[in-house]
Amino acid sequence: MPRALKDLTVLVSAGPTQERIDPVRFISNRSSGKQGFEIARAAMDAGAKVTLVSGPVNLKTPDGIERVDVRTAAEMKSAVMSRIDKYDVFFAVAAVTDFQPKELLEQKLKRPHDPKKSELTIHLRTTDDIVHAVTAKRKRPYVVGFAAETNNIIQNAREKLKRKKMDVIVVNDVSDPTIGFEGDENQVTVVFPESERRLERQSKYKIAKKIIELVARALPRST
Ligand code: C5P
Repeated sequence: MPRALKDLTVLVSAGPTQERIDPVRFISNRSSGKQGFEIARAAMDAGAKVTLVSGPVNLKTPDGIERVDVRTAAEMKSAVMSRIDKYDVFFAVAAVTDFQPKELLEQKLKRPHDPKKSELTIHLRTTDDIVHAVTAKRKRPYVVGFAAETNNIIQNAREKLKRKKMDVIVVNDVSDPTIGFEGDENQVTVVFPESERRLERQSKYKIAKKIIELVARALPRST
């Protein structure tokens, strides 16, 4: 399906977020950003105008894509929410870190010298859910969520699809250490409310192209 997203605007979130503990430390996750960047590239190749909101990653921005760099979940949320009204489709590929320290320490936390004081407690609270903020809007784009699951993959994905009011969810099984996260290949299932489609193991760009095709077919304008 060539130029399946012609004349559409697409916002993609990608990569991890980092939640600061003190000036030199943070909580984050293993997301490389590769799948999100490939979604952005495939959307552009399908004719869309694409903006990529990216957490800290080590990837080159594909030519022709506007990139907005963020670090924390809060920064990602404001980058997304301040732009979302101008977009037709939102691909929430980012692995937003679920917890952030309750307080940001101004000074670097010192390692205690007393061996009896070897324990440390950091209080965490959940970060805001960006997808949820988007789907709660009265005028909202078509929302494609992503999820990494280790068990009851499809059932958990369906539950998440409903709870977060997304239109589609792309789920991958991260119990297999050779796919997902840092790798160049992925294997996912694209879960719609009434159907699902398994995409066999292949490069993250090919996966992205197929996701774009499936989403383009499901968009309200082509029904
Ligand atoms: O519940 P879970 O984190 O697995 O949901 C994954 C989906 O929700 C992804 O699309 C991710 O980008 C999005 N998400 C979000 N904000 C969060 C956590 C997850 O937008 N704080």
